[in-house]
Amino acid sequence: MEIKITKASTLKEKPDSSALGFGKIFTDHMFMMDWNDEKGWSNARIVPFENISLHPASTVLHYGSEIFEGLKAYRRKDGKVQLFRPIENIRRMNRSAERLCLPQIPEEDALQILKTFVGVEQDWTPSAEGTSLYLRPFMFGNDESLGVHAVHNATYVIIASPVGSYYKEGINPVKIMIEDEDVRAVRGGTGYAKCGGNYAASNRAGQRAEQKGYSQVLWLDGVERKYIEEVGAMNVMFKIGDEIVTPMLSGSILPGITRMSCLEVLKKQGYKVSERLLSIDELGEALENGTLEEAWGCGTAAVVSPIGELCYKDVKYTINNGEIGKVTQYLYDTLTGIQWGKIEDSFGWTLSIE
Ligand code: PLP
Ligand code: COI
Repeated sequence: MEIKITKASTLKEKPDSSALGFGKIFTDHMFMMDWNDEKGWSNARIVPFENISLHPASTVLHYGSEIFEGLKAYRRKDGKVQLFRPIENIRRMNRSAERLCLPQIPEEDALQILKTFVGVEQDWTPSAEGTSLYLRPFMFGNDESLGVHAVHNATYVIIASPVGSYYKEGINPVKIMIEDEDVRAVRGGTGYAKCGGNYAASNRAGQRAEQKGYSQVLWLDGVERKYIEEVGAMNVMFKIGDEIVTPMLSGSILPGITRMSCLEVLKKQGYKVSERLLSIDELGEALENGTLEEAWGCGTAAVVSPIGELCYKDVKYTINNGEIGKVTQYLYDTLTGIQWGKIEDSFGWTLSIE
């Protein structure tokens, strides 16, 4: 595929690593490509970062036809830049596209686009401990008409943002509130797709949790409000006795790439790992009788985040004395070690940008 590159005439100053936060600063360029149902994909281009102009009737503004991805480019110790399992993000984006009736992108084209774009912006990949270049591919339906239907026109964009840690706590344990009123998704809905609408529906509960001093909510299933699903921006895992449990992919949970990677690391290390239903009652019992040894969330933005406190129906439970546990620390060290090229990638997960 041909990608036309137009460089920005002036480049922005790179920020200080200590002031990064998450997703507030953007690089010099963006990738864009257009689709319509007659011509397919066309006009692949890297252009100076700029505002996007939309027709006021554009589908995305009214009916939420939007999907996105999140992955990172990491600066290795030897100075090279690498991606972590980008093909998994591309596959998930295509599954999200299928669910939302947006066009798919052939895997090899999507990978070429990512590599070319990161190649152009790689100087923006910070090198300080815990920092990376967050990549945000997204796609939206862009018909200039108010009818409700699968779209005839779409746009694919990638923007990039140098980031530090997602939570202000960094690797320190976060406090999570179990939500028993709102639900995020139901089986048959869009829970497994990474679409903007899922996050819009999550904001009310997230805001309530924040007002009570919690970082995010832990969702229960949408039918019985009984089974643990995932946290706002990460999947969740628990060490109960000698079993590591994570909710199975039921259709309403995002199949996280960090989740998948944690499971593979844990299995290789010989841990007993279960992907299964985990009810709030079972979790409550494990909290009461002390068998819940560790809890953590995992996601691209959040990496591996220990959970130090859970709150359910206004009762607060402290986990592992509010400290990071052994397995959580091991996963954090292993994943970040591979991602930042500090330890050998025996899984073959990383892709270097030349
Ligand atoms: N669940 C939700 C709702 C998310 O937003 C994310 C973040 O992408 C995850 C889970 C973790 O997915 P991944 O590890 O692919 O980043
Ligand atoms: C990610 O981890 O990449 C996410 O998309 C989480 C979030 C900021 C929505």
